[in-house]
Amino acid sequence: MIHTLLFLFSLLTFSAHAAVQDFCVADLKGPQTPAGYTCKPAGTVTVDDFVSTGLRFAGNTSNIIKAAVTPEFAEQFPGVNGLGISIARLDLAVGGVVPMHTHPGGNELLLVTQGFVQAGFVSSANEVYVKTLEKGDIMVFPQGLLHFQVNAGGVTAVAFASFSSATPGLQILDFALFANDLPSKLVEATTFLDDATVKALKAVLGGTG
Ligand SMILES: *[C@@H]1O[C@H](CO)[C@@H](O)[C@H](O)[C@H]1NC(C)=O
Repeated sequence: MIHTLLFLFSLLTFSAHAAVQDFCVADLKGPQTPAGYTCKPAGTVTVDDFVSTGLRFAGNTSNIIKAAVTPEFAEQFPGVNGLGISIARLDLAVGGVVPMHTHPGGNELLLVTQGFVQAGFVSSANEVYVKTLEKGDIMVFPQGLLHFQVNAGGVTAVAFASFSSATPGLQILDFALFANDLPSKLVEATTFLDDATVKALKAVLGGTG
């Protein structure tokens, strides 16, 4: 009995003195470091820093890709800062597509909760891995690899993607090529596409030059 009490007491004093940092809610106004944002003072942290209702509703799919990606990365959801985890909601209208893209900073685990999604990635060895997923199915996309998701049914599809990083990043290949001011001549030289095709894609995606 005495021993048990002493043991419990030593545990209590240990936890009182151990400087384990439980969390680091992002201070979005502070500097961003390779390890994430700096921490909000613990005294100003509330439960709402660890809760987000941002994924309750479908994103707006009235756009050229007929899809919406709603991220809950550290920037949108400061509570995940430093925890190596985050999530996003994916809404795909009929005909919707998330074009070829990568998350440079994290692995992705996709869970389909509605409809049908044809998803795939291309490995560094240029192997293609494609599968049509239905409600309840999951697929993993290794960090940094190009991948895509396409609505594969006649109904709206919904999926949730979790990431092994609070800041996985998102780089869309088509946007990198055709939605900025990278000169058409360079796009043509690096893709082997002809001038008319590059100009047409820039016109559709909002690129210049
Ligand atoms: C969805 O986006 C379109 C195009 O930007 C816009 O016209 C429309 O009002 C938006 N719908 C909602 C419900 O926000």
